Amino acid sequence: MTIGFILNGEDVVIRSDADVRLIDILRGSFGLLGAKSGCLMGKCGVCSVIFNGNVSPACLIPAFRIRGSEIITIEGFSTTNEYQDIMTGFAQAGMENCGYCGAGKILTAEALLERINRPTREEILTGFGGIKCRCTDPDKLVEAIGITADIRQRRLYGRSA
Ligand code: FES
Ligand code: FES
Repeated sequence: MTIGFILNGEDVVIRSDADVRLIDILRGSFGLLGAKSGCLMGKCGVCSVIFNGNVSPACLIPAFRIRGSEIITIEGFSTTNEYQDIMTGFAQAGMENCGYCGAGKILTAEALLERINRPTREEILTGFGGIKCRCTDPDKLVEAIGITADIRQRRLYGRSA
């Protein structure tokens, strides 16, 4: 089938069988390797993308569902100010990062901070519940999101959250 959608702000068209996973389309047809192929069961979050505005596991999205959709991968998101805020916040907190789940962690941070200006520890840990990260200490994660929230609020409003 022929499928048109918007990928990182550009109109694209592919030919694909209806049941091919979005993660395989992104990596195989577009060479977008930031989202990884992990459990393929929706449980680890390493394949995360923004699908129609929501952070979603690309391993659970079959090709037939992407027609007419808008998809942002970590490669597309990395051109934004929000991405820079998160990278600075993560670096200032000294977060360990092997890079395996990076797309999931960064896009989840974005989704959380879009929803809540200054999330609590509980909201942060709940928000990151779908990311199975071997490297990140929960205390560091909470610190990193707090720093990122402050950076973002200062950039947007000239003051901390
Ligand atoms: S590979 Fe998609 S959630 Fe694990
Ligand atoms: S940064 Fe290593 S698994 Fe998450």
